[in-house]
Amino acid sequence: MIMRIGILTVSDRAYEGVYEDESGPALIEMVKEHLRQDTDLYHICPDNFSEIKRALEKWCDDAHMDLILTTGGTGFAPRDVTPEATRAALEREAPGLVHAMLDASLKKTPHAMLSRMAAGIRGRTLIVNLPGSPQAARENLLTSLPALPHALELVRGGGVDTHDLEHPIDTLERERQERDVAD
Ligand code: MTE
Repeated sequence: MIMRIGILTVSDRAYEGVYEDESGPALIEMVKEHLRQDTDLYHICPDNFSEIKRALEKWCDDAHMDLILTTGGTGFAPRDVTPEATRAALEREAPGLVHAMLDASLKKTPHAMLSRMAAGIRGRTLIVNLPGSPQAARENLLTSLPALPHALELVRGGGVDTHDLEHPIDTLERERQERDVAD
């Protein structure tokens, strides 16, 4: 399955050229190595709510990315607003990915508590926040990687056609009625 992948580095200082972004290129490498995919879009934006939200929306709605990874701006500093901007763009959250990443990260460093990452779905795009340091971005992506191919298949609408499935509540109701008839 060919995926369209976007990587968004969120950092005032990398945007201003104070230092070179290392996390974006680290993620591009990992995507190539582990998912065997090229990165279609790579961009650096400042820690600005509207710019982050606008970039995510454009990459989902116009550029039709399957997966967007952001790195940076998930911490407690006043300008860390990546999770808020991401949630504003999301239609459905994916807390399981965040739980898994926090759980694995906490086994490496107590500072993992300081990341407020969000993840979720907008249209047919999965968006995953990662922390800003190259090592933290790598460690967190490594945790979510095993689930990504199946997640992306489901987001695309592949896999099981849920429209053909009975809703669990309907199943319980049907079973109750069958029991009533049998009694
Ligand atoms: N997660 C992992 N796996 N490894 C790390 O080194 N660093 C933490 C945390 N998550 C870290 C990690 C630190 S020090 C911070 S401040 C938060 O991510 C937020 O980082 P950000 O503001 O750069 O997004």
